[in-house]
Amino acid sequence: MESREEILKEIEELKHRRNAIILAHNYQIGEIQDIADLVGDSLELSRKAAATDADTIVFCGVLFMAETAAILSPEKNVLLPDLKAGCPLADMISRETLKMLREDHPQAPVVTYVNSSAEVKAESDICCTSANAVKVVNSLPQEKIIFVPDRNLGHWVARSTDKELILWEGFCPTHEVLRKEDVLKVKKAHPQAKFVAHPECLEEVLDLADQVASTSGILSFARETSAKELIIGTENGMLYRLRKENPDKKFYPASEKMVCPNMKYHTLEKVRDSLKEMVHLIKVPEEIRAEAYESINRMLELKVGSKD
Ligand code: 13P
Repeated sequence: MESREEILKEIEELKHRRNAIILAHNYQIGEIQDIADLVGDSLELSRKAAATDADTIVFCGVLFMAETAAILSPEKNVLLPDLKAGCPLADMISRETLKMLREDHPQAPVVTYVNSSAEVKAESDICCTSANAVKVVNSLPQEKIIFVPDRNLGHWVARSTDKELILWEGFCPTHEVLRKEDVLKVKKAHPQAKFVAHPECLEEVLDLADQVASTSGILSFARETSAKELIIGTENGMLYRLRKENPDKKFYPASEKMVCPNMKYHTLEKVRDSLKEMVHLIKVPEEIRAEAYESINRMLELKVGSKD
C-alpha cells in the first residue's frame, strides 16, 4: 500500500501533467482541503471555475457544483472524483415541475439556488447562492418572484426583501436535521459562544443565530468577531477550516448529526485516480448547457456576493 506522501506526490505530478487545478468546497474532509488550489463557498468556486485557464478542474464537491463548472467552461475537463457525490436538495425539483410552477405564475421570474440540476438552471431566469440570494432577488424589477428549490433559504430571503416569494418545498437534509433544542443545549453548555448558522437551517434555528451566512460568510464572521467561542450551525466539515484559520478560538458543532455523506465521498486516492484516469468526466448536453449558462452568468455579472 502506498503512503500518504506517495499519493500526494502523484497528485502533484498528475496536476502538472494535466494542467489541472483542484477546487474544494468548505465541507470537504481536511486532507482534501489541504491539497486544494481553492477552498470556498459555492459562489467563490463558480467564479474560480469561470476564470481559471487550467485544462482540467478536479471538483471536490457535489455534482451540481461540478456541473456548474462544466456549464461555465465547456472546453475544460471537469472531473468529479466520486460520482456518488450527489445533492438530495438539488434532486427535489425537476425541470417539469418548475415548468408547471411557471405556468401557475406566468409573470414571475425564476430565481434558482445553485443547489439544483443543470436542467433546472436551464429553466430559470437567474441563479443565486446563499451568499448573494437577497441581492439577486432585489436586482429583479418584478415584485413577485419564484424562488426554488430551498424553502429555508427562501424564508430567510423573504425576511430581507419586500418582494413576494413563491417558494418550493425543497430542503437540505443535513441542515434540516438541526433543531432549536439542539442549539439551546449547546448554547447552555457554552454561554459565551456566538451562534452562526447557514440559511439552509430551519427558521426556528435561524431565530437563535447571531449571524446567518454562507459558508464563506461564516468564515469571515469567525475571523472578525471578538468572540472567542463559536457554535457552528452548518455541515461539520466547516470546523476543520475554522479551527485551522483561528487557532486562538474555540468552535463547537451545533449538532454532531450535521454531516453530509455526499461531501465525504472524495478521498486523496480518488482525487489521484480521477487525474490518472480522467474520471468522472462531467458533461452537460450543449442545449441545456447554453441555457443554464445564461442563468449562472446573469448571477456572476451582478458581481454581488459575501465579499461585496
Ligand atoms: P455555500 O454556498 O454557503 O458554500 O453553501 C453550499 C451548500 O451546499 C450548503 O449546503
